[in-house]
Amino acid sequence: MTEPVVDVHLTPEDAAHALRADVRAGLTATPKWVSPKWFYDAVGSALFEDITRLPEYYPTRAEREVLGRRAAEIASTTGAHSLVELGSGSSEKTRLLLSALRERGTLAEFVPQDVSAEFLRDAAKAIMADFPGLRVHGVVGDFTEHLGMLPGESPRMVAFLGGTIGNLIPQEREKFLHSVRDVLDPGEWLLLGTDLVKDSEVLVRAYDDAQGVTAEFNRNVLRVLNRELGGDFDVDAFEHVALWNAEREWIEMRLRATRAMHVHLSELGLDVEFAAGEELRTEVSAKFRRDGVRRELEDAGFELHRWWTDDEGRFAVSLARAS
Ligand code: SAH
Ligand code: AVI
Repeated sequence: MTEPVVDVHLTPEDAAHALRADVRAGLTATPKWVSPKWFYDAVGSALFEDITRLPEYYPTRAEREVLGRRAAEIASTTGAHSLVELGSGSSEKTRLLLSALRERGTLAEFVPQDVSAEFLRDAAKAIMADFPGLRVHGVVGDFTEHLGMLPGESPRMVAFLGGTIGNLIPQEREKFLHSVRDVLDPGEWLLLGTDLVKDSEVLVRAYDDAQGVTAEFNRNVLRVLNRELGGDFDVDAFEHVALWNAEREWIEMRLRATRAMHVHLSELGLDVEFAAGEELRTEVSAKFRRDGVRRELEDAGFELHRWWTDDEGRFAVSLARAS
């Protein structure tokens, strides 16, 4: 079978360099943090796919419901020739958009972009097999840094699905939305998935499932640090914490040290002390309201054209036009 074209904007050396800088900054800060970008090695990407199938994790199903209902309208409104997907992962839900755009007869190219190189290659191959004749041009890259290098034939639609925008902290989010706007021409499109503010118990359950899959996903970041940075984290000595921060309206995932620990990362020449009960923040997952999304889009130079939610009002998909 033909292999997909995959451009590498983030080489393994660049990624290793970025990981080093990030982890040194995060583990020497108070409180300690690690960026969620590093969750997604092959194991982490597979664990995320397992999360999407959990009964408690509603966002994937809710977003799929919206896309299934609205894909034809999205295709006729945008007439997109290229679909560029950021943080594309498995691109499962994106198939709904690809099918609708193909039916409409406008689609020439699909450009999935992700930091997780192997997962991206496999996903791109699967799409090529199921959409014969579609040009698939994968890009290994960081959506907070490499947007200016994305290919794509105008008019383009950039899709950022799954609520991944919520994993950026507000300053990163603002910078990200401006950089997406900067690469688009007026009249081109952004399709944005955002999880919505709701009952905190429902939210916490989605990030602390009964089977413990999210806990494994969270702890996996320590395995990544052990492997990539010569670390000696005792992974099982950290417990998974998911809490709702009502003031910031985001879920926070943390790893709590169950005992005092000394951790050495040989590749960084770094020694880190954890007190018993100390927490390491590994992810925020912001939840949104319509007014906030509209404001952030407008501030970045987009006009909110359509806002759709699933029947239960849990998750929203926004279609925005570059002004
Ligand atoms: N869009 C998919 C996957 C969401 S999981 C869905 O809706 O189901 C988040 C994805 O973003 C993962 O595939 C991860 O590898 C990718 N990712 C996380 N941080 C990234 C970054 N800074 N740049 C590019 N991709 C990133
Ligand atoms: C990828 N992202 C939108 C997921 C989320 O819901 O914030 C990552 C995740 N973290 C824990 N469960 C899922």
